[in-house]
Amino acid sequence: MSIKHEEIKDYYGKELQSSNDLKTNACCTLEAPPIYIQEALKRVHNEVQMKYYGCGLCIPSQLEGLRILDLGSGSGRDCYIAAQLVGQEGEVVGIDMTDEQLAVANQYIDHHAEVFGYKYANTKFVKGNIEKLDELDLEPESFDLIISNCVINLATDKYKVLKDVYNLLKPGGEIYFSDIYSDRRIADDLQADPILWGECLSGALYWNDFLKTARKAGFTDPRSVKNNPITIENDELLEKCGEIQFFSVTYRLFKIDGLEEDCEDYGQAVAYKGTIENNSNAFDLDDHHNFPKGKVITICGNTYKMLHDTRFADHFEFYGSWDTHFGVFEGCGGAMPFDEDNETSCC
Ligand SMILES: C[S@@+](CC[C@H](N)C(=O)[O-])C[C@H]1O[C@@H](n2cnc3c(N)ncnc32)[C@H](O)[C@@H]1O
Repeated sequence: MSIKHEEIKDYYGKELQSSNDLKTNACCTLEAPPIYIQEALKRVHNEVQMKYYGCGLCIPSQLEGLRILDLGSGSGRDCYIAAQLVGQEGEVVGIDMTDEQLAVANQYIDHHAEVFGYKYANTKFVKGNIEKLDELDLEPESFDLIISNCVINLATDKYKVLKDVYNLLKPGGEIYFSDIYSDRRIADDLQADPILWGECLSGALYWNDFLKTARKAGFTDPRSVKNNPITIENDELLEKCGEIQFFSVTYRLFKIDGLEEDCEDYGQAVAYKGTIENNSNAFDLDDHHNFPKGKVITICGNTYKMLHDTRFADHFEFYGSWDTHFGVFEGCGGAMPFDEDNETSCC
């Protein structure tokens, strides 16, 4: 393990005892979760919740029966939420490298199985380094969904993490994860600062470098789901960071063959059936695709595949074919995909 990994383990294992010890709001979740997640949270043990350091909501819809991997699962909060939503037949595997975090997560496996009314636990935690997923005993293409909450920024080799994630996902699977991004590249001296790194700030990727890294790893069309600006309420850290702006962003990256770099228009459309659990009125694929029940909406080829070639297929009516190309989908652009006003531009 590198020095950085030892420092991170000390930070999350020894320095922080609970989220009250954090020095910024980078590892805090600002948005209120939907009601059904709030209900699931009520059944998660208090000690697990106290050691939660996530920066977003990385629990997507339609989880029944899925096999899920959580990268940097910490004390296990998101795993125990997901464990309820996948049901008895689903499975959740959490990976973390910090013994103290794993100890809390492991301590409550049987407790949660009982609280959820399961015959056997559907959750397990594995000690490991997410930068070496290929060295762990994980079968390629064996996960439907990979989640992660405020962890990949802490990895030195983000490309390696995403490349291994791509290999672990089943075709049509996705990584749905919340993390910290910056509006510019971060200088080496800030990256060497253990507090700034540990607080999930100086390891943040410049958003445009993230998009390139994700595409290089095989995720051709990264979709942002939610973004929030981060405020640094610590004068010393704020002074060090200067003008850098940080954002907490939830992205979803699908592993789908044939996605194109730009959104291309084939004249296709879909209508949402209203059948995804807890989404009876509308379904949000990402921050610019809202599908109200019953409304026919024109979409680009990539979005068509994200609905047609994934676990969402049964919940949509699909219209059109791939026979005629009408050019680039109107409104697609390459501007920064998030800002303080939460405005986005794409198809
Ligand atoms: C900010 S905390 C988030 C924990 C958890 N996802 C949550 O939401 O509470 C970061 C976690 O990632 C783990 N971590 C950081 N780098 C890691 C790596 N390379 N491999 C495995 N775990 C890592 C740390 O041990 C810590 O538990």
